[in-house]
Amino acid sequence: MTDNTRSRSSFDNGATGAGDIKVEVRDVEKLFGSIVALRGANLTVRKGEVTAIVGDNGAGKSTLVKCLTGLYVPDGGEIIIDGEVAHFRNPDDAREGGIETVYQDLALSDQLSVWQNMFMSRELVRRVGPFKFLRRKEMKKQAKTLVEDLAVTVPSITNSVKRLSGGQRQAVAIARGVMWAKGMIILDEPTAALGLRETAQVEALIKRTVDQGQTVLIVSHNFEQVKRLSSQVWVMRAGQVVGGTRTVDVTNEELVGMVTGAIQLAG
Ligand SMILES: Nc1ncnc2c1ncn2[C@@H]1O[C@H](COP(=O)(O)OP(=O)(O)O)[C@@H](O)[C@H]1O
Ligand SMILES: [Mg+2]
Repeated sequence: MTDNTRSRSSFDNGATGAGDIKVEVRDVEKLFGSIVALRGANLTVRKGEVTAIVGDNGAGKSTLVKCLTGLYVPDGGEIIIDGEVAHFRNPDDAREGGIETVYQDLALSDQLSVWQNMFMSRELVRRVGPFKFLRRKEMKKQAKTLVEDLAVTVPSITNSVKRLSGGQRQAVAIARGVMWAKGMIILDEPTAALGLRETAQVEALIKRTVDQGQTVLIVSHNFEQVKRLSSQVWVMRAGQVVGGTRTVDVTNEELVGMVTGAIQLAG
């Protein structure tokens, strides 16, 4: 998996070579009025591995994620998923395409329980003639099994989410992603608000998802986390992807330099 022939100073094109491509972002642009949030962003995500996006605040990371998940429609460029140009008009389109997202700023529904959050807007129903009944028992059972399988530490799946800690909430959000993803999970700063122990739990959960064959795209400020989790890292600055590399080929210090601009990148 590692390309040992790559020199340390060439950050320009880390994702060429072996490995199937899950996602290709080609010249994607996004404007908010006169603000250019994305000015022609390019990157690729390989199947079955963790790809990280790093960059300063305002670099365009969340906007790019939202373009990938149908929350925003790009003003230019193309998003290619599994070799086909995607035309997501809304998040449901992306979900139907098998992409689940854990957003930085769209959380769980506080007043609902763990299992209700996991089935939110995708409830299992039983039809009897013209009537529809919620299959509450079945949903609880499935939620419980998944939570146990993933070793997510929540007190009970019937607890309302507002009584959970930050780490437990994040674990539920990720478990929901794992539950519905058919190929890919995107996580925007999933551990930004968490302590060390909770971060370790969330990272373990992400690793298990990859072991199960999912592709993961993660936005993170935490370079040590990027080193621990990812195989490929892309650096964003001012609405562009200014470089990328296989993660094993860079040090934390080099990543910092790439983000701040102290290390000049090709492309
Ligand atoms: N909904 C929005 N309306 C207006 N400007 C936005 C909106 N979302 C993001 N921006 C702007 O786009 C740029 C990129 O933001 P964002 O993608 O959130 O960056 P990051 O996630 O890397 O911190 C910033 O200048 C931000 O202020
Ligand atoms: Mg962001």
